[in-house]
Amino acid sequence: MSFDKDEKAPWKIGVLFSQTGVTAVAERPQLNATLLAIDQINGAGGVAGRPLEPVVYDPASDPKSFRYHAERLLGEDGVTIIAGCYMSSTRKAVVPVAEQYRGLLLYPTLYEGFEYSDHCLYTGAAPNQNIVQLATYLLEHFGDRVYLVGSNYVYPYETNRIMSDLFHSAHGDVVDERYVPLNVTAEACAQIAQDIKRKQPDVVFSTIVGSATSTLYRAYHAAGLDPRKIPIASLTTTESEVQEIGAEAAEGHITAAPYFQTVDSPENRAFLAAYNARFGDDVAATSGAEAAYFQMYLIAEALERAGTDRIEDVLANVYKAEFAAPQGTVRVDPENNHTYLWPRVGRVNAQGQFELVWESGAWVKPDPYLVATAVGEWGAHVAKA
Ligand code: ACM
Repeated sequence: MSFDKDEKAPWKIGVLFSQTGVTAVAERPQLNATLLAIDQINGAGGVAGRPLEPVVYDPASDPKSFRYHAERLLGEDGVTIIAGCYMSSTRKAVVPVAEQYRGLLLYPTLYEGFEYSDHCLYTGAAPNQNIVQLATYLLEHFGDRVYLVGSNYVYPYETNRIMSDLFHSAHGDVVDERYVPLNVTAEACAQIAQDIKRKQPDVVFSTIVGSATSTLYRAYHAAGLDPRKIPIASLTTTESEVQEIGAEAAEGHITAAPYFQTVDSPENRAFLAAYNARFGDDVAATSGAEAAYFQMYLIAEALERAGTDRIEDVLANVYKAEFAAPQGTVRVDPENNHTYLWPRVGRVNAQGQFELVWESGAWVKPDPYLVATAVGEWGAHVAKA
């Protein structure tokens, strides 16, 4: 439903991030940052003089609940735009609903790629903006024998397939590949740690998500495995998961993402100051939070330009929007609805923060189908900001 005839009505924005369940550790920062951006935009006068009004539900890390609440937002609540979803299983539950109701999902999470919908904007990293740089870094610094471990759903299977391809293309080996439930036990992670100890890969690549992340990293630490020699590399272990793990067990592990709290820019300093002032110093800002933050600014600019929340008009205008985000300037690519982002690799230090060990220094055009990207060749998509 569009509100363009009523000059005072707020722009309703659906907000679907899990405040409970296995991935709340990753999604609470995304909820925080969405609400922060909405507050800031409203504080600066709103969009075309009308405030943004969040309509928030807690889908509790469950794809069926995501689907149910997306139908409620788009079918009953008068919303056309939803910011939400972390796990790819939840995005895959919501996108068909957005397509059916002619709505738009703003998805601020890295994922496995190989997807397009004109009812979804993908503002987290595509594989050519994180895993290719990570594989390049690991092959250069640690070696070519990788051990893969993941949670039991679509993102880990697909992402481990890409990592396997990247290592095989560099004549490396996959030492083993294991999957665990989202609510994996400490005992199961202890067994995996023992298996890693026996097989001595050069590096572990983890696509485990949510609270299971701390279960794995703590088991790894307890088994006496040394991250300086065999680090766990990941795309999903952010500052929030590191808080759950604890700095002592997390130190030395590696993550690739477009944003870390340690990015040195005026935009990031302002973002962190506002985030910490609102949520407290000990609530982490993450790459998912930063994407949730900047996507709200991109959509606000699109709404302002369009003067309506009809999705066709919003999309035509979002491609014209650019925002100086904490990670660097971002914009949505009209060719594929993914976003130009700034790849980085970080390594956890003794304070539980990510020291930047590699930065692209430029935004990278999204290539979600990995059409023209191989190990060491990510730079083919660098474009000048
Ligand atoms: C994810 O499932 N896209 C982290």
